[in-house]
Amino acid sequence: MKLKIQIILLFSLIISTVNAQKTNVKKAFESAAIQTEILIKNVDSSRKVKPNLVSPRTVEKGQFKMVVSRDWTSGFFPAELWYFYQYTKDKKWLNLAKKYTEDIKKEQFNRGTHDLGFMIYCPFGNGYKLTKDTAYRAVIIQAAKSLSTRFNKTAGVIKSWDHNGDKWKYPVIIDNMMNLELLFEATKFTGDSSFYKIAVTHADNTIKNHFRPDFSSYHVIDYDTTTNGHVLQKLTAQGYANESAWARGQAWALYGYTMCFRATKSKAYLAQADGIANFILSSKITPADGIPYWDYNDPKIPHVSRDASAAAITASALYELAGYSKDSKRYKTAADKILYSLSTKYVSNPGKNYGFILDHSTGHRPANSEVDVPINYADYYYLEALLRSKK
Ligand code: GLY
Repeated sequence: MKLKIQIILLFSLIISTVNAQKTNVKKAFESAAIQTEILIKNVDSSRKVKPNLVSPRTVEKGQFKMVVSRDWTSGFFPAELWYFYQYTKDKKWLNLAKKYTEDIKKEQFNRGTHDLGFMIYCPFGNGYKLTKDTAYRAVIIQAAKSLSTRFNKTAGVIKSWDHNGDKWKYPVIIDNMMNLELLFEATKFTGDSSFYKIAVTHADNTIKNHFRPDFSSYHVIDYDTTTNGHVLQKLTAQGYANESAWARGQAWALYGYTMCFRATKSKAYLAQADGIANFILSSKITPADGIPYWDYNDPKIPHVSRDASAAAITASALYELAGYSKDSKRYKTAADKILYSLSTKYVSNPGKNYGFILDHSTGHRPANSEVDVPINYADYYYLEALLRSKK
């Protein structure tokens, strides 16, 4: 009898622990909305003084930082407003999302960066899904054309950066996987398979060149496009070292290949996403709350900053991957844990951080920039993970 009671108590303890890890999505969205209303007020005041700064990015040295539309993070703020509309169906958010999305529109013609997926697809893609406004679709198609100009046939990859020509010739960063969704969607909209082919070629060559045997990823691969497209160097720009695993890079890789599987149903992409997920989730370095340090190999761990943005991207990707993989349960449990940690321990104090939702992201540690601060893309993928957790 005594044993039976002990077993019952043990089970209730396990169940309450499991339940405790469940995020209260409604509450999390409500708190995020209150923060975002503060953020919008700050955006509007800043724009009165400097109208060319269109989107809030971060808090730097205690100061609210806005960016121009050509900044790689400019699309996340309007894209968040679309997520609030998606969740609430409240016209107030629809109008706000429409208004701030317009400010990024001109970047559809930008050929100077690979980041058009982030800048254009996040706001316009979500806007199109929710409104079916054909003007948004046209912007996505034009952005895909602009991005395609950065594809090099010899190397079979899209060039990421035009800057720092002294350090590399043809740099491709793992983050670039995130821009492929724009290309897949453009093929769906137009029937022009050239976008799809570029995306698949880029994703295949990235599998070939960007990963180590344990599925961790390099940050920057430098290609030689003048001869046969071979790899010149394997480097980092934002990680601890060339051979280290920069946390956000691993998250971009996971999200990227999960999305590529969605778009193509290619088993190779699913296997890649499973491998990356296993690398992330088997880490003995990441603390029990599931929020990684900014780089898995920083020798100063545990005395270094975490990266809540990497965690938010990972949680969102794992929710999607759980829908495709045989390791579904493992991914869903891990995503739930990360989301619970973010929504309880990594949110800004109410009314603080100029209205950013999450705190404790790391943008560019080697440059000592944006360390342990709020950043807009952490907020965007956090909202996305909240939405996906309900499915
Ligand atoms: N795509 C740049 C970054 O993740 O910081």
